[in-house]
Amino acid sequence: MSLLDEIGPLKQSALADLTAAADLAALEHAKGAWIGPHGKFTALMKQLGSLPKEEKPAAGKAINAAKVELEAALARRREELELKAALPKEPADFTLPGRRRAVGKPHPLTQVTDDIVRAFRKIGFVVADGPEVEDDFHCFDALNTPADHPARDSQDTFYLANPATAGHAPRPANLLRTHTSTVQIRVMKSRPPPIRIIAPGRVYRRDNADATHNPTFHQIEGLYVDKGVTVGDLKGTVEFVFKELMGPEVALRFRPHYFSYTEPSLEIDFTNSLVKKLGKDWLEIAGCGMVHPQVFENVGYDPEVWSGWAFGFGIERLAMLRYGISDIRLFYENDTRFLNQF
Ligand code: DAH
Repeated sequence: MSLLDEIGPLKQSALADLTAAADLAALEHAKGAWIGPHGKFTALMKQLGSLPKEEKPAAGKAINAAKVELEAALARRREELELKAALPKEPADFTLPGRRRAVGKPHPLTQVTDDIVRAFRKIGFVVADGPEVEDDFHCFDALNTPADHPARDSQDTFYLANPATAGHAPRPANLLRTHTSTVQIRVMKSRPPPIRIIAPGRVYRRDNADATHNPTFHQIEGLYVDKGVTVGDLKGTVEFVFKELMGPEVALRFRPHYFSYTEPSLEIDFTNSLVKKLGKDWLEIAGCGMVHPQVFENVGYDPEVWSGWAFGFGIERLAMLRYGISDIRLFYENDTRFLNQF
């Protein structure tokens, strides 16, 4: 049989092999057997050189045409097999319900804050807000906090570099507020009494993080100013709110204390079954007192006419008591295994 006659049958066998390949591995194998460097079709091409001169053009043309055909068949089959490999093995049931995306929910601290706000709203309080970057006046001076108070020390508080004051009188020092009591001053300076506000927000201290401290945490401030306000109003309000938040079996105790912006000043101790379980009788939870006459003077209220009370407490502390959490850092780590429990 001449070389020219061999081309046709060999091509047919090669085409049959390529189109019959059941998967990509089998196709690669067939490719190697026919048109790879050691393939049967390649061997045929190598014989071309030994043909008599007059037979070469016809045989060369036929071989080239066959090769184009084989390569097209290879590409076609490869495409088919690739598609087949990409399709799912199991049939899909398109009537099944879709997978929902988790929408998330408020952080536990936000949930506790919302509950505190809800409890105060029931008795006529509204939410007030103030900046986290404050100045000396709102954080300390107006709150009657003396210049030698340790909280004003640059080691205890985060001060910010002031913008250049070229040609102007130096501006008051800017700092990150150390408590939400600043909002008392902002509110009283902006409107006349009566006042009934709460102010939740973030505060900053130069504390190292440990199980019970973090350099940023959250407080909520309360302020009530009217005529004839008494310590009885303060106690009644605080008791109402804590019972709303923590259940009716909560007990509170008011202890004399010192804050420069209240007189008298009191510290509030809290207890319930969880506190007892922790092996304690009481836990200190908040500071409060009757607004100091000097603070009223500082904001332009007449202390002979107006009286009021204020309190402040840490939201993390309350959330830890509410949920039995022993490490404050859990609130800030964004670990969904923790957050999903609320
Ligand atoms: N500002 C106080 C603190 O950060 C808490 C506080 C105490 C707030 C007494 C008050 C108050 O309004 O009357 O520890």
